[in-house]
Amino acid sequence: MSTDWGAFRALFPTLEEKAFLASGSYGLMSRQVEAALRRYVDDRIEKGADWGGWIGKADAVRDGMAALLNAGADEIAVTTSASAGVNSLASALDFSGPRNKVVVSNFEFPTGAQIWHAQEPRGAVVEHVPEGPNGGIPLEHFERAIDERTRIVQVTHVCYRNGQRLDVAAVAKIAHDRGALVLLDCFQSVGALGVDVKALDVDFAVGGMLKYLLGTAGVAFLYVNRRRLSDLVPTASGWFAQADTDAMDIFANDPAPSAARFQAGTPPVVNCYAAEAGIGLIRGIGVDAIEARIRDLTGDAMDRLADAGCKLATPREDHRRGPQVAIRSSDAAALTARLAARGVITSWRDGNVRAMFHAYNDASDVDALIEGLRANRELLA
Ligand SMILES: Cc1ncc(COP(=O)(O)O)c(C=O)c1O
Repeated sequence: MSTDWGAFRALFPTLEEKAFLASGSYGLMSRQVEAALRRYVDDRIEKGADWGGWIGKADAVRDGMAALLNAGADEIAVTTSASAGVNSLASALDFSGPRNKVVVSNFEFPTGAQIWHAQEPRGAVVEHVPEGPNGGIPLEHFERAIDERTRIVQVTHVCYRNGQRLDVAAVAKIAHDRGALVLLDCFQSVGALGVDVKALDVDFAVGGMLKYLLGTAGVAFLYVNRRRLSDLVPTASGWFAQADTDAMDIFANDPAPSAARFQAGTPPVVNCYAAEAGIGLIRGIGVDAIEARIRDLTGDAMDRLADAGCKLATPREDHRRGPQVAIRSSDAAALTARLAARGVITSWRDGNVRAMFHAYNDASDVDALIEGLRANRELLA
């Protein structure tokens, strides 16, 4: 059955006014998420305290993420940020012995490197995997960095700076062959690309709901492969990390047998209302259809941008990129501001203007982007 993309686009009122191409920064609010947030307010006023209903919202997010990632609900922790999930995971790892190395790609978002550097006083030694001469990170660089001393490898799916996609399954294979664990950061892909944690064979995955998952800030997830659960006991904890939240036992820490052991306190209830609705939209259309639509939109945009004389930091091959097209600029901040003044919303990092597509975009957004870039040609690299 083919998707009515016009009807999908109509769910996002911002698109009536703007060519919004910044979904990797913050995805747009749909009518469904708007209604879910209003429902939260109505529920608060009508019911007062509804702990059972609220916990149900966090569980709905857990179930939705499990389905999207091809995981079990017992393998998902609902957290307040991706950083919170990585911190909790780091707290469960022992760096006092010979396996104290943490391998981190240079494509990581800062949080995914800073947290590992923060473990240095606990004995962790962080090694970065550098880019090659063409700006990508060749697998040989991972081969070189990952060894028998490596405890964990942090690898990103799609780089937030340049839109390049890494071969996560190949990195996971190298890591596992050498006895290391693998943490995938899929924040810049989940919701826009299929992320099957079992097919990729990663041990952990983090992401959040405010970008391509079309929810809101302040709610995120950590996937923990079931076979890792029994060995890992976070030292960052709280009552929502316990086997029985209602136990109210102040004399012991009794971590949940599931990935909930990586949670901490009260779930971010209002954000879960929004996240449930956002995940529902993605699942309703289906990730395969969304991924195909984004691949077509970005591929077409890249061809037209190249014809318009733009230099791109994102590789053209479909399997080496995701929803982001990064355009090189001599002053990316100024170019982003000039585009915004014309109603073309992008964002910038690292000398690149980032056009980050979702399935609600269409050719008119690409037209607006190209016109805006042509009008500001002097700011292209
Ligand atoms: C790839 C990636 N990882 C991690 C983060 C940070 O997530 P959080 O603020 O939820 O910790 C971001 C945020 O933009 C991101 O793009």
